Amino acid sequence: EVLDPSAVQDQEIMNIAHRGASGSAPEATTFAFDQAAEVENAWLEMDVQKTKDGRLVVIHDEDVKRTTNGEGEVGEFTLKELQNLDAGSWFNEENPNKADESYENASVMTLKEVFERYGTEENYYIETKSPELNNDMEEPLVELVEEYDLIENNSIIIQSFNQDSLKTIHELNQDIPLIQLLWWEVDEETGKRKEWLDITPAPEDMTAEDYEEIRSYAAGIGPHLTFEDTEVIDEEFVQKTLDHNLLFHVYTINSEDNMERLIDWGVTGIFTNYPEQLQRVIEET
Ligand code: G3P
Ligand code: CA
Repeated sequence: EVLDPSAVQDQEIMNIAHRGASGSAPEATTFAFDQAAEVENAWLEMDVQKTKDGRLVVIHDEDVKRTTNGEGEVGEFTLKELQNLDAGSWFNEENPNKADESYENASVMTLKEVFERYGTEENYYIETKSPELNNDMEEPLVELVEEYDLIENNSIIIQSFNQDSLKTIHELNQDIPLIQLLWWEVDEETGKRKEWLDITPAPEDMTAEDYEEIRSYAAGIGPHLTFEDTEVIDEEFVQKTLDHNLLFHVYTINSEDNMERLIDWGVTGIFTNYPEQLQRVIEET
């Protein structure tokens, strides 16, 4: 049994706040999520990994270096050690024009802390990040999502680049809507998009069977727009995907021009670091 996309999404365009409002506050902290939560209908996007002591935490990179004052892989830290790091000052240093003293107190959050803070008032768009490093994340993740009643409230989508991770989640609970993230590189010599793992050929080569395989566990796909300076998707691909009854959520779009263009192509969702700006664009189109 696979969920119908129309039952998964009631907004015409889903506004997916990428690591929270990460363009204006340190990503994946209360500051970025609070700002995103102020935007009507925005979904809180986040990446989940596991600490050394097996806790689910919200952090994007495999290494803590870019977004904290520490160094080393997430899985080498206990929760306590991880939460002793400063996950906000880096943002002030990188973005002096957006700096805010209060960000210096930011800490890495557990997924449970996120659910405690926003409950069913907010919607969550959670990525199982690098499941090959963060083993067995799926079961505790599904348990937590069930514990906070997110499924019956239509407040949860789970995404991953890793097909096995999504299939595992689908086996654990078929009512959780899933998005298969996709990634294509462009061949320098031919300019053609290369096939991606064994999941998808180039977009123009995707067949009914390829779509059917994704439909067997997911409600939609999450492709990117560009590889280096080349666009890897187009309007035809968006329309072909919608014809195969799959949602199309594109990442990560930060310019108004691209937001408008993609909405025009018919995408059903956009990941952005600027959810407030996207909300304005959606209202104006
Ligand atoms: O989850 C969609 C998009 O966020 C994937 O890229 O690297 O930002 O997690 P990344
Ligand atoms: Ca992500």
